[in-house]
Amino acid sequence: MTRTLVEVASEAAVCTRCRLAQGRTQVVFGQVNAGADLLFIGEAPGFHEDKQGEPFVGAAGNLLNRMLGEIGLARDEVSVVNVIKCRPPGNRDPQPDEIEACTPWLVEQISLIQPKVIVTLGNFATKYVLNTATGITRLRGQMHDWHGRSVIPTFHPAAILHGGGEKSRQFELLREDFELVRRTLAAPVAQAQIQAQAQAQVQTDEPSIDQLELF
Ligand code: URA
Repeated sequence: MTRTLVEVASEAAVCTRCRLAQGRTQVVFGQVNAGADLLFIGEAPGFHEDKQGEPFVGAAGNLLNRMLGEIGLARDEVSVVNVIKCRPPGNRDPQPDEIEACTPWLVEQISLIQPKVIVTLGNFATKYVLNTATGITRLRGQMHDWHGRSVIPTFHPAAILHGGGEKSRQFELLREDFELVRRTLAAPVAQAQIQAQAQAQVQTDEPSIDQLELF
Protein backbone atom coordinates (compact mmCIF):
# COMPACT_ATOMS: atom_id res chain seq x y z
CA MET A 1 0.00 0.00 0.00
CA THR A 2 1.25 3.50 -0.81
CA ARG A 3 2.43 5.45 2.22
CA THR A 4 1.71 9.09 2.81
CA LEU A 5 4.45 11.70 3.02
CA VAL A 6 3.72 12.07 6.73
CA GLU A 7 4.28 8.35 7.26
CA VAL A 8 7.50 8.40 5.25
CA ALA A 9 8.72 11.47 7.16
CA SER A 10 8.14 9.83 10.53
CA GLU A 11 10.06 6.74 9.45
CA ALA A 12 12.89 8.87 8.05
CA ALA A 13 13.09 10.82 11.33
CA VAL A 14 14.67 7.80 13.03
CA CYS A 15 16.78 6.66 10.07
CA THR A 16 20.11 5.01 10.88
CA ARG A 17 20.98 3.80 7.38
CA CYS A 18 24.35 5.60 7.36
CA ARG A 19 26.96 7.17 9.64
CA LEU A 20 25.45 10.65 9.31
CA ALA A 21 22.82 9.57 11.86
CA GLN A 22 25.50 9.80 14.57
CA GLY A 23 26.36 13.48 14.17
CA ARG A 24 23.03 15.02 13.23
CA THR A 25 20.75 17.08 15.46
CA GLN A 26 17.80 15.84 13.44
CA VAL A 27 16.82 14.50 10.03
CA VAL A 28 15.88 17.28 7.63
CA PHE A 29 13.25 15.42 5.64
CA GLY A 30 12.32 18.50 3.65
CA GLN A 31 9.42 20.80 3.00
CA VAL A 32 7.09 18.48 1.16
CA ASN A 33 3.87 19.62 -0.38
CA ALA A 34 2.05 16.85 -2.22
CA GLY A 35 0.01 19.26 -4.30
CA ALA A 36 2.97 21.32 -5.52
CA ASP A 37 4.04 21.26 -9.17
CA LEU A 38 7.53 22.52 -8.36
CA LEU A 39 10.20 20.61 -6.43
CA PHE A 40 13.64 21.98 -5.56
CA ILE A 41 16.44 19.55 -4.80
CA GLY A 42 19.54 20.77 -2.96
CA GLU A 43 22.58 18.91 -1.65
CA ALA A 44 22.40 18.39 2.09
CA PRO A 45 21.42 20.28 5.26
CA GLY A 46 23.94 22.76 6.61
CA PHE A 47 24.45 24.01 10.16
CA HIS A 48 21.21 26.01 10.42
CA GLU A 49 19.08 23.41 8.66
CA ASP A 50 20.37 20.73 11.03
CA LYS A 51 19.41 22.87 14.02
CA GLN A 52 16.00 23.99 12.71
CA GLY A 53 14.95 20.81 10.91
CA GLU A 54 13.99 22.68 7.71
CA PRO A 55 15.80 22.85 4.35
CA PHE A 56 17.21 26.10 3.00
CA VAL A 57 16.89 28.40 5.97
CA GLY A 58 19.32 31.29 6.45
CA ALA A 59 20.81 33.41 3.68
CA ALA A 60 20.61 30.79 0.89
CA GLY A 61 17.00 30.11 1.83
CA ASN A 62 16.21 33.83 1.76
CA LEU A 63 17.61 34.09 -1.74
CA LEU A 64 15.56 31.08 -2.83
CA ASN A 65 12.42 32.68 -1.37
CA ARG A 66 13.20 35.94 -3.12
CA MET A 67 13.62 34.25 -6.51
CA LEU A 68 10.36 32.39 -5.97
CA GLY A 69 8.66 35.70 -5.19
CA GLU A 70 9.93 37.11 -8.48
CA ILE A 71 8.03 34.41 -10.37
CA GLY A 72 4.92 34.84 -8.25
CA LEU A 73 5.31 31.89 -5.91
CA ALA A 74 5.50 31.68 -2.13
CA ARG A 75 7.78 29.19 -0.43
CA ASP A 76 4.85 27.20 0.97
CA GLU A 77 3.52 26.63 -2.55
CA VAL A 78 6.54 24.50 -3.54
CA SER A 79 8.45 21.50 -2.20
CA VAL A 80 12.08 21.74 -1.13
CA VAL A 81 14.24 18.72 -0.30
CA ASN A 82 17.88 17.67 -0.34
CA VAL A 83 19.57 14.59 -1.80
CA ILE A 84 20.99 13.90 1.66
CA LYS A 85 18.70 14.29 4.65
CA CYS A 86 21.32 14.62 7.43
CA ARG A 87 24.09 17.18 7.78
CA PRO A 88 27.54 15.88 6.82
CA PRO A 89 30.01 16.90 9.55
CA GLY A 90 31.63 20.25 8.81
CA ASN A 91 29.53 20.42 5.62
CA ARG A 92 31.89 18.01 3.87
CA ASP A 93 30.78 16.42 0.59
CA PRO A 94 28.40 13.49 1.01
CA GLN A 95 30.15 10.13 0.46
CA PRO A 96 28.97 7.56 -2.10
CA ASP A 97 27.63 5.08 0.49
CA GLU A 98 25.74 7.91 2.25
CA ILE A 99 24.18 8.95 -1.05
CA GLU A 100 23.20 5.36 -1.79
CA ALA A 101 21.68 4.89 1.67
CA CYS A 102 19.68 8.10 1.41
CA THR A 103 18.44 7.70 -2.17
CA PRO A 104 15.29 5.66 -1.33
CA TRP A 105 13.95 8.59 0.72
CA LEU A 106 14.27 10.94 -2.25
CA VAL A 107 12.77 8.40 -4.64
CA GLU A 108 9.76 7.98 -2.36
CA GLN A 109 9.41 11.75 -2.00
CA ILE A 110 9.37 12.27 -5.76
CA SER A 111 6.93 9.39 -6.26
CA LEU A 112 4.52 10.87 -3.73
CA ILE A 113 4.90 14.53 -4.67
CA GLN A 114 4.73 13.89 -8.45
CA PRO A 115 6.16 17.31 -9.34
CA LYS A 116 5.79 18.65 -12.84
CA VAL A 117 9.07 20.56 -12.70
CA ILE A 118 12.19 19.73 -10.70
CA VAL A 119 14.85 22.38 -10.14
CA THR A 120 18.23 21.01 -9.12
CA LEU A 121 20.22 23.53 -7.11
CA GLY A 122 23.96 23.42 -7.81
CA ASN A 123 26.46 20.96 -9.18
CA PHE A 124 25.97 18.14 -6.72
CA ALA A 125 22.20 17.74 -7.04
CA THR A 126 22.32 18.29 -10.81
CA LYS A 127 24.99 15.69 -11.49
CA TYR A 128 23.25 13.21 -9.23
CA VAL A 129 19.75 13.62 -10.67
CA LEU A 130 20.76 13.84 -14.32
CA ASN A 131 23.46 11.17 -13.97
CA THR A 132 26.07 13.27 -15.69
CA ALA A 133 29.61 14.49 -15.17
CA THR A 134 28.81 17.76 -16.95
CA GLY A 135 28.96 20.82 -14.71
CA ILE A 136 26.17 23.21 -13.78
CA THR A 137 27.47 26.06 -15.93
CA ARG A 138 26.83 24.03 -19.08
CA LEU A 139 23.60 22.38 -17.95
CA ARG A 140 21.75 25.39 -16.56
CA GLY A 141 19.48 27.50 -18.68
CA GLN A 142 17.80 24.52 -20.33
CA MET A 143 15.11 22.06 -19.58
CA HIS A 144 16.19 18.41 -19.39
CA ASP A 145 13.87 15.45 -19.83
CA TRP A 146 13.88 13.04 -16.93
CA HIS A 147 11.31 10.28 -16.34
CA GLY A 148 8.65 12.34 -18.06
CA ARG A 149 9.38 15.40 -15.99
CA SER A 150 11.18 18.64 -16.68
CA VAL A 151 14.44 19.14 -14.80
CA ILE A 152 15.83 22.66 -14.80
CA PRO A 153 19.29 22.91 -13.24
CA THR A 154 20.42 26.21 -11.79
CA PHE A 155 23.10 27.60 -9.54
CA HIS A 156 23.02 26.86 -5.83
CA PRO A 157 21.89 30.02 -3.99
CA ALA A 158 24.84 29.70 -1.61
CA ALA A 159 27.22 29.72 -4.59
CA ILE A 160 25.66 32.99 -5.80
CA LEU A 161 26.04 34.53 -2.35
CA HIS A 162 29.68 33.46 -2.07
CA GLY A 163 30.50 34.45 -5.64
CA GLY A 164 29.60 38.08 -6.09
CA GLY A 165 25.95 38.23 -5.06
CA GLU A 166 23.47 40.42 -6.85
CA LYS A 167 26.00 42.18 -9.03
CA SER A 168 27.33 38.96 -10.52
CA ARG A 169 26.58 37.50 -13.93
CA GLN A 170 25.54 34.31 -12.13
CA PHE A 171 22.75 36.18 -10.40
CA GLU A 172 21.40 37.36 -13.76
CA LEU A 173 21.52 33.77 -15.01
CA LEU A 174 19.75 32.56 -11.87
CA ARG A 175 16.97 35.03 -12.67
CA GLU A 176 16.78 33.72 -16.23
CA ASP A 177 16.51 30.16 -14.93
CA PHE A 178 13.65 31.09 -12.63
CA GLU A 179 11.91 32.72 -15.56
CA LEU A 180 12.29 29.43 -17.45
CA VAL A 181 10.76 27.66 -14.45
CA ARG A 182 7.81 30.06 -14.56
CA ARG A 183 7.26 29.48 -18.26
CA THR A 184 7.59 25.72 -17.95
CA LEU A 185 5.07 25.56 -15.12
CA ALA A 186 2.65 27.51 -17.27
CA ALA A 187 3.04 25.29 -20.36
CA PRO A 188 0.88 22.15 -20.16
CA VAL A 189 1.50 21.16 -23.79
CA ALA A 190 5.25 20.88 -23.38
CA GLN A 191 4.73 18.14 -20.82
CA ALA A 192 3.31 15.68 -23.35
CA GLN A 193 6.33 16.20 -25.61
CA ILE A 194 8.69 15.66 -22.71
CA GLN A 195 6.98 12.40 -21.80
CA ALA A 196 7.39 11.10 -25.34
CA GLN A 197 11.07 12.06 -25.42
CA ALA A 198 11.75 10.62 -21.99
CA GLN A 199 10.58 7.19 -23.10
CA ALA A 200 13.34 7.19 -25.70
CA GLN A 201 16.10 8.00 -23.18
CA VAL A 202 19.02 5.60 -22.77
CA GLN A 203 20.37 4.93 -19.30
CA THR A 204 24.07 4.77 -18.38
CA ASP A 205 25.88 2.42 -15.99
CA GLU A 206 26.79 5.14 -13.47
CA PRO A 207 25.09 4.85 -10.07
CA SER A 208 22.43 7.50 -9.76
CA ILE A 209 18.84 8.05 -8.89
CA ASP A 210 18.18 7.74 -12.61
CA GLN A 211 18.42 3.97 -12.46
CA LEU A 212 15.82 3.46 -9.78
CA GLU A 213 12.23 2.63 -10.38
CA LEU A 214 10.56 5.93 -9.70
CA PHE A 215 6.99 5.71 -10.72
N1 URA B 1 22.36 23.88 1.08
C1 URA B 1 21.67 22.81 0.61
O1 URA B 1 22.04 22.22 -0.40
N2 URA B 1 20.58 22.46 1.26
C2 URA B 1 20.13 23.09 2.33
O2 URA B 1 19.09 22.70 2.87
C3 URA B 1 20.85 24.20 2.79
C4 URA B 1 21.97 24.57 2.15
